[in-house]
Amino acid sequence: MSSQIAGAKEDHCPNPLRCVGDRPGLDVSIVVITGSAGLVGSEAAVLFASLGMDVVGIDNDMRGVIFGGEASTSWNKARLQSALGARYRHFDLDIRDRAGIQTLFKRHGRAVELVIHAAAQPSHDWAAREPFTDFDINAVGTLNLLEATRLHAPDATFVFTSTNKVYGDLPNELPLTELDTRWEIESGHPYDEGITEDMPIDRSLHSLFGASKVAADVLVQEYGRYFGMATACFRGGTLTGPSHSATELHGFLAYVMRCTMTSTRYTVFGYRGKQVRDAIHSHDLVNAFHEFFASPRVGEVYNIGGGRMSNVSVLEAIAIAEQIAGEELARTYVDENRVGDHKWWISSNARFQAHYPGWSLTYDVPRILQEIYEENRDRWTAAIPQGRPPGNRRRTTGAH
Ligand SMILES: NC(=O)c1ccc[n+]([C@@H]2O[C@H](COP(=O)([O-])OP(=O)(O)OC[C@H]3O[C@@H](n4cnc5c(N)ncnc54)[C@H](O)[C@@H]3O)[C@@H](O)[C@H]2O)c1
Repeated sequence: MSSQIAGAKEDHCPNPLRCVGDRPGLDVSIVVITGSAGLVGSEAAVLFASLGMDVVGIDNDMRGVIFGGEASTSWNKARLQSALGARYRHFDLDIRDRAGIQTLFKRHGRAVELVIHAAAQPSHDWAAREPFTDFDINAVGTLNLLEATRLHAPDATFVFTSTNKVYGDLPNELPLTELDTRWEIESGHPYDEGITEDMPIDRSLHSLFGASKVAADVLVQEYGRYFGMATACFRGGTLTGPSHSATELHGFLAYVMRCTMTSTRYTVFGYRGKQVRDAIHSHDLVNAFHEFFASPRVGEVYNIGGGRMSNVSVLEAIAIAEQIAGEELARTYVDENRVGDHKWWISSNARFQAHYPGWSLTYDVPRILQEIYEENRDRWTAAIPQGRPPGNRRRTTGAH
């Protein structure tokens, strides 16, 4: 047989040469999800499987390669396989493998109705260490998926998880005031309710990661505008939820909670810990994808995040996590901020909500942290090495 997908190991299907879309007489609808074992990809897999779609998941656990074993997403892949059964088929495929991606899409063809592209190299620091790998994954990998979709499933809706880092460090030029626990934008500023898509994406410091995501973002727009495909870039703020494989360089809220629960020292980098992030639960995010899929548009761009309802500074997040866990978080403060780090970011969801008035946020930060705590308690505390002293029980509560 010639149609092996080069480099891909399929974990689930007994016959990797047979695809759901090829089954005669079956009217199946397929969603291809890249980064399917990650935070966003796994949440999307659960949602679309529950809606009756067959899920083709692509993830090669690159997160474990980038950040080391503690960040591996293999546990989440196993969880999906067990929860979704035959509805979920996993391909251990690298999105840089152009021939493999083409073969996968060719095999499933027009049965693919939706592509959710959530695989990425997500770290600024790592991008500087391996610029070619970062660009090959984030930019060229995205092009591989767009072109495969155009050639084999041109009517599919293509959803891309872009990032607010496409705006570089421009948000740091906004008029910000230092308050007790956070930076805040000047009252009455046009971005008071959140930053809108009219902020320029060039003439600022991006990091190589930001630059590779800009390339991908513009490509996704172009496949909409130039080829007329239903594409959308969702420029996320902080994406979060209990399925995040938390690690120091990625997964802010889950990592704060994990450190608090496991007595791991947490380092705060610069801005006196008052940098503000808006946090959107992956559940709310994938519901936005669903809205877009139900009524797609061409070449769209949306800022998307927790907005004014769900945002927090590092100091505030620590206080809430400590209160939930009943532990004090041991922390170190380093005066130097991460290069280009946003001092204040709150997304405006107004454009998306104008197009999709049925969508709204359901989670705020305390609820997100509570859920991260409850759903990971057994897994994270089981990983604490034997003999390690228990955490610092809090003597006070109500710090938030
Ligand atoms: N988490 C955030 O705060 C945040 C914020 C803004 C944008 N985003 C974007 O959202 C998307 C999803 O983020 P997430 O938090 O779910 O990330 P994640 O790291 O949890 O998931 C991404 C998955 O992609 C896989 N992957 C990486 N490179 C791959 C490759 N070459 N081939 C196949 N699989 C590969 C990883 O193994 C991982 O399981 C990414 O594009 C990210 O840039 C994330």
